[in-house]
Amino acid sequence: MATKQETQSQPQADASKDGASGGETLSVTDNRTGKTYEIEVTDGTIRTMDLRQIKVSDDDFGLMGYDPAFTNTASCRSAITFIDGEAGILQHRGIPIEELCERSTYLEVAYLLIFGELPTKPQLDRWVFDVTHHTFAHEDIKKFNEGFRHDAHPMGMLLASVGALSTFYPQAKDIDDPEERYMAAIRLIAKVPTLAAWAYRHSMGLPYVYPDNELSYSENFLLMLFKMENRYKPDPRLAKALDVLFILHADHEQNCSTNAVRAVGSSGVDPYSAVAAGVAALYGPLHGGANEAVLRMLRRIESTDNIPDFLEGVKNREERLMGFGHRVYKNYDPRARIIKKHVDEVLEATGENPLLDIATELEKRALDDDYFTSRKLYPNVDFYSGLIYEALGIPTDMFTVIFAIPRTSGWIAQWMEQNEDPELKIARPRQIYTGDRDSSYIPEGKREGPEKITGPPARRPKRPRRGA
Ligand code: CMC
Repeated sequence: MATKQETQSQPQADASKDGASGGETLSVTDNRTGKTYEIEVTDGTIRTMDLRQIKVSDDDFGLMGYDPAFTNTASCRSAITFIDGEAGILQHRGIPIEELCERSTYLEVAYLLIFGELPTKPQLDRWVFDVTHHTFAHEDIKKFNEGFRHDAHPMGMLLASVGALSTFYPQAKDIDDPEERYMAAIRLIAKVPTLAAWAYRHSMGLPYVYPDNELSYSENFLLMLFKMENRYKPDPRLAKALDVLFILHADHEQNCSTNAVRAVGSSGVDPYSAVAAGVAALYGPLHGGANEAVLRMLRRIESTDNIPDFLEGVKNREERLMGFGHRVYKNYDPRARIIKKHVDEVLEATGENPLLDIATELEKRALDDDYFTSRKLYPNVDFYSGLIYEALGIPTDMFTVIFAIPRTSGWIAQWMEQNEDPELKIARPRQIYTGDRDSSYIPEGKREGPEKITGPPARRPKRPRRGA
């Protein structure tokens, strides 16, 4: 019979044991002292605090775990999202992502993530009503936006405006009040598309468009992005594709931005500030910024003829194949599989995109190449999502912003779960100190050593700014 470790790639709570170890232990012999310790094993993990008892002497601090980037450390218990990266499985509250994309809507999935169960019809109606009726943002946000340069990156603007929401709703600081938590959840999910669309309109020098409560969540976002005349009817095929993309990006357990939300949230700060930390983390090219980087990469490759040279450069470590590889998935990212299906539908509505041929050929060649297969590098969610965004007429700078819209519900679900967790403590990792100790202060005239600041004197850059 297969053991638990053989059948699942990540630690998972065993419901029959009710959180207890069930008597499973790990024997550790410290070869420095010859002493053996019994450490409890629960849900396929040990508590690293249990290592602290392992000491070479009474005044020894005790053994710690060293895990930069948390590659093998569970930082919380969570019942929101399950991923089996080896098998390419993603489930929210136990429901496979494929089924959610097929049968649900983004707002229903957001409810599922936050409340743990699919809503009844009246529950869903109330939820959709509440979100829809909080989509307007305070007029002062518009004034605040006006302070940004016309060429400001919309993700930087979104980061600032989400953080600024905490100043508009100071009562959200009362994080123990369930009503305040609910209001913050509603406001964030409702307003982030408005803030995102306004960041885009600002960067285009266009007047802001107010939300229309008659439209669905994704239709409304398309309206706020693109409305130029009085009448604007979003194409239902495009609105549906965007809704599926929103479902696919809603949550992904303890990724970099969710970890940022939880780490910042563990200080007890209001949820707007915690979610702003998530937006900041998502901005990075190795996380949410990858979809933008994929499009830039495809444009740079320019033609399928240039793919072999490009892949050689990747293999020589000159650059990465963006949209490939994942910390958790060591198989085809199930989200990429679903997106790929939708690319064709969207292109049918909007017309061909030559970058799709480059992407398809690039994927095929990479999956035929031992460099990628031996490292289990497969397309991730970002490999094809940018092509859909581009087909929707969304500029590259906005891609990460569009990732942030649905991920907001995941961040809130995780933030809410964390605040209910009896084991919640402020996140505060340890370090291995590598510097000097007990050094003397050397008087200025006696100091020597190599020059540390080697660049030219600090001054304003000569290079003109983008668009300026
Ligand atoms: N292209 C080329 N080589 C790669 C790539 C890539 N995209 N990703 C990983 N590798 C290689 C890497 O050089 C290393 O090789 P070696 O062992 O010979 O040194 C090996 O694969 C393992 O890579 P790693 O950097 O240790 O893996 P990681 O788990 O730390 O990184 C990752 C995960 C997603 C940051 C990385 O795969 C990457 O940079 N991918 C490109 C960026 C990208 O598409 N990011 C979107 C992630 S999905 C959306 C999201 O959830 O944010």
